[in-house]
Amino acid sequence: MTERTPLIAGNWKMHKTVAEALDTTRTLIALTEDVTGVDLMIAPPSVSLAPMAELLTGSRIALGAQNLHWEQQGAYTGELSAQMLASAGCSYVLIGHSERRQYFGETDETVNKRLKAALAADLIPVVCIGETDAQREAGETFSVLDNQVINGLDGLFSDDLGSLVIAYEPVWAIGTGKTASDEQAQEAHRYIRELMDRQFGKALANTVRILYGGSVKPSNVKALMAMPDVDGALVGGASLAAESFSQLAHYQA
Ligand code: 13P
Repeated sequence: MTERTPLIAGNWKMHKTVAEALDTTRTLIALTEDVTGVDLMIAPPSVSLAPMAELLTGSRIALGAQNLHWEQQGAYTGELSAQMLASAGCSYVLIGHSERRQYFGETDETVNKRLKAALAADLIPVVCIGETDAQREAGETFSVLDNQVINGLDGLFSDDLGSLVIAYEPVWAIGTGKTASDEQAQEAHRYIRELMDRQFGKALANTVRILYGGSVKPSNVKALMAMPDVDGALVGGASLAAESFSQLAHYQA
């Protein structure tokens, strides 16, 4: 069996001022010093990236951005490029989060452009996919995942995608307290890994990390992580407090 280092990632979404982010970060660094065998990442609002990077140097926690633009520079008011994020100390970037798809017009095509830009700048992309409630009810879960993976990763080859992380976040489980059951998560993750095998071959399918996201909490993380194809968690609400993120990071304890 292939070893995939688990990744516990926090998506702070639009929460915390710079002062609050730094405050949480200080506590988090102290609480996670002893974590081993698990990669940790926090994606704060972009104004906190550079100041947090300074604090996180030498810590167990990597820094991620929540979005990027695909151009390197130019007249794109309000946007940030992969190079800018890297220069602020990011090593990861979230791409195509369902909230961006829902509220900001993100499509598989723009996901694809952002992914290529992230890879070109050596950022580790976390491509977010997942079905809505209506799509699951209509029995469309797997075809939605097919489209999001095939179109989102279009034009890329397994050699390009060695660092890729996929986050399966069923939209109906985000911020609702309604977690997918361990079996539902495993079923979707297995499906995604088989899809990666068909598209890119076994080597990449075996090494790609697939995170689960949607109401992950200290109380359910261990059972989710015990599923064979769940390689980590992308956590919103429960990543905001240092204590609960630390509990997630220590899920093996
Ligand atoms: P919650 O953990 O708050 O459900 O959010 C999940 C999520 O969207 C992480 O990206």
